[in-house]
Parts: sequence; structure tokens; C-alpha cells
Amino acid sequence: MSITQLRPSEASALPPTRITALTLLEKKRTGTPIVALTAYDYPSARLADEAGIDLILVGDSLGMVVLGHENTLSVTLDEMLHHTRAVARATRRALLVADMPYGSYHGSVDEATRNAIRFIKEAGAHAVKIEGGTNRAELVRRLTGAEVPVVGHIGLTPQSLHAMGGYRVQGRTLAAIDQLTADARALEEAGAIAIVLEGIPREVAADLTAHAAIPTIGIGAGPDCDGQVLVFHDLFNLTFAPTAKFVRPYADAAGMFSTALAKYRNDVVTRVFPSDSESYHLPRELRSALTSSHLRARKA
Ligand code: KIV
Repeated sequence: MSITQLRPSEASALPPTRITALTLLEKKRTGTPIVALTAYDYPSARLADEAGIDLILVGDSLGMVVLGHENTLSVTLDEMLHHTRAVARATRRALLVADMPYGSYHGSVDEATRNAIRFIKEAGAHAVKIEGGTNRAELVRRLTGAEVPVVGHIGLTPQSLHAMGGYRVQGRTLAAIDQLTADARALEEAGAIAIVLEGIPREVAADLTAHAAIPTIGIGAGPDCDGQVLVFHDLFNLTFAPTAKFVRPYADAAGMFSTALAKYRNDVVTRVFPSDSESYHLPRELRSALTSSHLRARKA
């Protein structure tokens, strides 16, 4: 078995200063872009954290990019908690935000609050994200009062897939823009620490950002937001799907994995792997003893 090297816990190695909601606010004030990325497991989260990503989101996109579902709707609370725990073990600097999955905050505010607290208490998240605006203001207020920082998410909200009639860019009419403006204001007034703006025109995102006192983090919302978030598997070309307009793949991990897998397969089939130097050996004396005892056994 191979072993993942956990970080040394020497007292001399000071942990990096943790990004908090206040850090995000300061970044908005100073115009310093916030860098966010999703992650779902220990290695991806550790790489993201060590690369200086400010905010790591355990998104419910987990359902699609990791678990192979068609959409995010079937992701369960237990699955989100499980993956958030793994990401928490890897994250020392980034603010860790966990997505509340569909159904976990759509019943009573009491039940939603209990579920949200599990992310903080059991999984090590620092905040939760919920989709919706004015319709979630009461919940955001309650969670904030229960010491659960909340990131809002408006625009193209994937959990409303059926209500939206598909994944469509939102905020393209004056009425829709008014609703987004009301949503952003309601989330801010209720105590949200940041708002994800997904799948809306650049001009609308710029206007919402200019009028919000809390940071906006865009995905498919243009460059004028206070920060940007991408899905890990989009960034590395690991989705097996055509790239959306707003995605920039920074590396071709699928290509790299495929090449390595083909080579591994070929090396095993042709007995090139493992080599003698990749094998364990008996000490010399035991080797000859083994050979002679085998010879004896064969003769008998
Ligand atoms: O689940 C997710 O990955 C998200 C991001 C797209 C913001 O919600």
C-alpha cells in the first residue's frame, strides 16, 4: 500500500493565517480579487490550499463531476458531509465553504439550521452555501444568528434546474434584473458573508457587485465580480463534456491520465512493469536457502 504523506506537525511550522469572512471583506475593500475553487477530496483540496486559493467550496457539483450523476439534485447530506470532512483535513489556509444539498434546507428553518450546524460541528466547514435570494432571507438570518456564516448563491442556481427549465443564463430582462437586485440586497441584509453570482450577464454582475457591501464571487458572470470560482474538474478538463463558455481549462488532466493509463496497461501486458528494481528481495543467504530447499522438495 502507498501512503499519503500528511503534513509534519512540528511545532516550528506555523500554520498559515486562515482566510475568514473579514479577509474577504478586506479584499473587496482593497479591490484584491478573491480566488475560489471547488474541491471534493484530500489531494485536490490540499493542492488548492497550498496554491493559495482563498476559498475552497465543497460544491454539490460533487454529484456530477465526482459521483457521475446527471445533475446535483440527488446529492445527499451524508455525501456532502463525508466529502467536506476530507477537504477539511487538507485545508489549512482557505476559508472552507460547504454547499447544502438540495432538500437539506427546503423544509423548515429549524431542520435547515440543524443540518447547517452539522457542516460546522461534524465536518469542519467554516460556512455553508445555499441557493436562493429573497426566499432564503429568513433562513440566512437564522443561520447567521446560530453562528453559521452563509454564502448566498443567485442567478443560475443548479438546484432550481426544473423550475428554470434547464441551465440557462439568468437576469436577461429588466424584471429578472430587479429580482436579482432584490435577492442580493436581501441576502446582504440577512447577514450573508458573500454571494455567488452564477450565469448572469457581465453588466448585471458588475452592477450587483458595485452595489453590494459584501463580496460577490462570479462563475459565468464576467470579470467585474470581487472574485471568481471555478469547478476543479472544469479547470483540469476532467468533466468529459464540452467546455462551457465561461470555463478556461488550465490543464488537460484527462489527457495526462489517459496517456499514463495506456502506458501502465502496456507495461503490465508486456511485463515491463514492475522491474526487478521495483521488487522486494530476500537477503542473499535466504535466496540460496530457498532455492536449495525447493530443489530438495522437488526431488522428494
Ligand atoms: O456546486 C458548485 O460547484 C457550485 C459552484 C458552481 C459555485 O455551486
